[in-house]
Amino acid sequence: MRLMFVGPPGAGKGTQAVRIAARYGIPHISTGDMLREEIKNGTPLGQQAKAYIEAGELVPDDVIIGMVKERISRPDARDGFLLDGFPRTREQAEALDKFTSLDVVININVPDDKLIHRICGRRVCRQCGATYHESMLENLKQCPKCGGELYVRDDDKEEIVRQRIAVYKEKTQPLIEYYTKKGLLEDVVGSGGIDDITEAIVAVLENRK
Ligand code: AP5
Ligand code: MG
Repeated sequence: MRLMFVGPPGAGKGTQAVRIAARYGIPHISTGDMLREEIKNGTPLGQQAKAYIEAGELVPDDVIIGMVKERISRPDARDGFLLDGFPRTREQAEALDKFTSLDVVININVPDDKLIHRICGRRVCRQCGATYHESMLENLKQCPKCGGELYVRDDDKEEIVRQRIAVYKEKTQPLIEYYTKKGLLEDVVGSGGIDDITEAIVAVLENRK
């Protein structure tokens, strides 16, 4: 299964992608996670991406397209993958069409006021990468799964989050029409509980098989 999740920052793409990728045994390919890993490792790509991410802007298309093309060509993605956060522009979508095709695009819908609340309370584990909202945690500093240190992403400050949402509306939302025209788009309501949203996504995927 070749899947893609689209939705604004804070829609729950990452939260749901971890669950859906595990259920279907496909790799979860998150361009945001890949870029943060490059930054952590101090690579030239990471150095190039850092300023864009911290300003809430998109990293240039050519950098992202090359990175995803290489990742999708690896053996673990031969029988399917779940793209989270890519494509994000028309150029990226057209480039993807040249090197692979998608079976379905899940559009996760959440109102803006919920997005800000969710992102501004996000904590991520430095060790295992798990994502939480502060309302789920008893201890805001320690991962309940692995004991690793929890941190706040550099781009999760409210003014940057607002900028990311504006960039989403301008550059990424037009892809909803792009994939609707191809007959690939499926809408899922993303404002309920995490388990209910997972079930709704699974129902859509099973229906399309
Ligand atoms: P990226 O890392 O992709 O960030 P994003 O799209 O802004 O989305 P988020 O990761 O913030 O949100 P999410 O939808 O994954 O939500 P999550 O599950 O974490 O990209 C970061 C940056 O990298 C970009 O701004 C750009 O600069 C660059 N970049 C990446 N890809 C690029 C590309 N293709 N082209 C160019 N540049 C690119 O959940 C959020 C919070 O909500 C968490 O606290 C979670 O616990 C909570 N939550 C989740 N679901 C629920 C629920 N149902 N109920 C209550 N709380 C919930
Ligand atoms: Mg994410």
